[in-house]
Amino acid sequence: MPAPEETAPYGSGPAAPAASPAKRVRTHHLREMKERGEKITMLTAYDMYTAATFDEAGIDLLLVGDSASNNVYGNETSLPVTVDELLPLTRAVARSVKRAMVVGDLPFGSYQASPEQGYLTAVRFMKEAGAHCVKLEGGAEMAPVIEKCTQGGIPVMAHIGFTPQSEHTLGGYRVQGRGDASDRVVADAHAVQEAGAFAVVMEMVPGDVAERISKELTIPTIGIGAGAGCDGQVLVWQDAFGLRTGRMARFVKQYADVHSVLLDAARAYADDVRGGTFPGAEHTF
Ligand code: KIV
Repeated sequence: MPAPEETAPYGSGPAAPAASPAKRVRTHHLREMKERGEKITMLTAYDMYTAATFDEAGIDLLLVGDSASNNVYGNETSLPVTVDELLPLTRAVARSVKRAMVVGDLPFGSYQASPEQGYLTAVRFMKEAGAHCVKLEGGAEMAPVIEKCTQGGIPVMAHIGFTPQSEHTLGGYRVQGRGDASDRVVADAHAVQEAGAFAVVMEMVPGDVAERISKELTIPTIGIGAGAGCDGQVLVWQDAFGLRTGRMARFVKQYADVHSVLLDAARAYADDVRGGTFPGAEHTF
């Protein structure tokens, strides 16, 4: 028996108190939620503790987004992040959840070349990282990739409207589908459903267009900057919970100020160390 002071250091214990042993979220559950009019919740997660915490909170889907490029790896956009950088993060999240469905995000350049390339990349996320499904950006032009993956046993979440991996083609961060351009977004939504996607993220699409699409499709729609008419919502957690500071997109609602909590804690720790009040006798063997 180890002595009490020899408990495992450095966070090697359980990720969080055991979450309720609810059933794993599956694609058919999401479809049933849509049919019942029950909203679907999704957040990004990139590591063990946030994944376990969001799972405990009952979030249905955890996306290990290519937004890790900006939020974990310090890049300015999502373009530079690689499959090899996202796989370990996805593995950490998949190992840490009991209920949430874990979505592996295919990064820029890892699926656009051909359906075969897309399928082989998606297989890596499922096999090496334990993802339960993958997400990829693009509408009608991505239908062959979606078909190849779904026929090969990999559930695909599509992502239409503003697709950050194409920001240079789209001319920057802009709402997609205003006015006459709505036809294209509607056609993309139908094309990805037809190709076999089990759900579709709609990013920065006018609320009325997103609502129309959500009514027309049988698969769930998950909005980010697409209004309340979607079947579910997704946000990047560092934005929603205030770890990131600075200017936020209009569609972000801030639920916490984690940055201030960490800043205060780090300052208090530094003050204690500099002032000689930490460690105290109770922290000393
Ligand atoms: O990578 C990501 O975080 C995303 C969300 C914006 C949906 O794709």
